[in-house]
Amino acid sequence: MTQPTDSKAVTGILPGLEMHRFAATGLPATQDPRMARMLTALERNFYEEVPAGPALDQILELHGLDGRTYVGVYEAGADPAQTDPVGTYASFVKPLQTGVGRQLDAFLVSEVTVRTTHRRRGILRTMMESELDRAAAQQLPVAALSASEATIYRRFGFGVATVRRTVQVDTGGDVSLVAAPTGSLRMVDPKELAGLGPSLYARALAQTPGSVGRVAAYDVSETDSWRSKNDGKGTGLLAAVHEDDGGTPRGYVTYRFNGWKQEVPTVKVTGLVATTAASFRALWDHLVHLDLIQRVEWGFAPADRLLENLLVDPRRVKTTESEDQLWLRILDVPAAFAGRPYHRDGELVLEVTDPLGHAAGTWRLSVRNGTAEVEEVADVVPAPDLTLDVAELSSIYLGGVSAELLRQAGRLTEHRPGAAAELTALLAADRPVFCMTGF
Ligand SMILES: CC(C)(COP(=O)(O)OP(=O)(O)OC[C@H]1O[C@@H](n2cnc3c(N)ncnc32)[C@H](O)[C@@H]1OP(=O)(O)O)[C@@H](O)C(=O)NCCC(=O)NCCS
Repeated sequence: MTQPTDSKAVTGILPGLEMHRFAATGLPATQDPRMARMLTALERNFYEEVPAGPALDQILELHGLDGRTYVGVYEAGADPAQTDPVGTYASFVKPLQTGVGRQLDAFLVSEVTVRTTHRRRGILRTMMESELDRAAAQQLPVAALSASEATIYRRFGFGVATVRRTVQVDTGGDVSLVAAPTGSLRMVDPKELAGLGPSLYARALAQTPGSVGRVAAYDVSETDSWRSKNDGKGTGLLAAVHEDDGGTPRGYVTYRFNGWKQEVPTVKVTGLVATTAASFRALWDHLVHLDLIQRVEWGFAPADRLLENLLVDPRRVKTTESEDQLWLRILDVPAAFAGRPYHRDGELVLEVTDPLGHAAGTWRLSVRNGTAEVEEVADVVPAPDLTLDVAELSSIYLGGVSAELLRQAGRLTEHRPGAAAELTALLAADRPVFCMTGF
């Protein structure tokens, strides 16, 4: 942990307001009132309960562990240690998995809020533009966020790169899996996931394009240790670890029983991490065979239908909600495209528009033997194969969204017939693209 750093006011950006930037120290509220006020303000802006005492200190500590940097917008001349900000914005650097075994550093954006009385005056725009400039200056090739509403962030160059869904699995009666599970399941006290959870997540991350490094709050959630709930002593979360035939842990699941008052006895999966296909199957074998339970709900399921394929009766799985998850924003086109794997050769010229400038240009993307080279070419020679906005380029970058599909939707312009389908094939991912975590 570090001592509070001095924030520097940036004035003249918005009438009567100024912007301060400072690092999360991880210190308790009494020693870092500026961060305490930041947290209080952003919870209010999200209409959430405001944490206090040890619960607040725990969150402050976690944000310090994430290495978060905060931007606050204040009334001009206000002391951030004594005033709540009217605008909040957090960022931190974590790995983004661009393919199996390939990562690059991403600028993750979170906790973006503006006080209700100060909305639609350009506060978000000011914070976002200045922070993306800062990320680009630090040579971070991509930024990422998840969005409360789907119509806010495209204007800043973000595009949807992954989706997640909520599923309800009917586990009443006899449920059969297509393949028998291997290894064994061990029920554990969630506290035993300290250390094990993060290390298994890191292994799962390395195999999952579209995922990012996990924030420290997950270590607390999966060990059932929130100070705001039962003083950190636990709230009845259940946890099971899957071990392979050699006794090595390969995955785990955490879940919670919704209570007997619910008409259909249901458990809710709060976390599921599998580092092998066998582990995913074994964890689901456990979940679908819980006695007395007739429904398992999972709010962070990939869209890949692996779950349906596990079951002899795939219609036991119902998707009840599906939403955009990871929004990506390419800041450095050559570095981003050099930082992911490829499985075929190809060459395309892409004309990219970018209202904020970072990715704008005409780029020749050449892939040979799994490696991409990107060079900026003169505007007219050669003629581009496709014209697209940075938001679309960011959507298709990991291969989870098809360029051909975006062409059909009218989101990109094809100048050479077949170019969008070619780009789709060139960017195909080695595994389903999915972000396993929120942030
Ligand atoms: C979303 C939020 C941060 C926007 O802040 P703001 O300061 O009002 O936004 P700005 O005035 O800077 O607006 C910037 C642009 O985004 C647009 N915009 C802002 N909020 C929007 C919304 N909810 N939906 C669609 N567009 C939105 C504005 O029209 C403006 O467009 P333009 O610059 O292209 O003309 C603020 O409304 C808020 O705190 N909402 C509740 C918390 C929340 O949802 N936070 C986002 C978490 S991901």
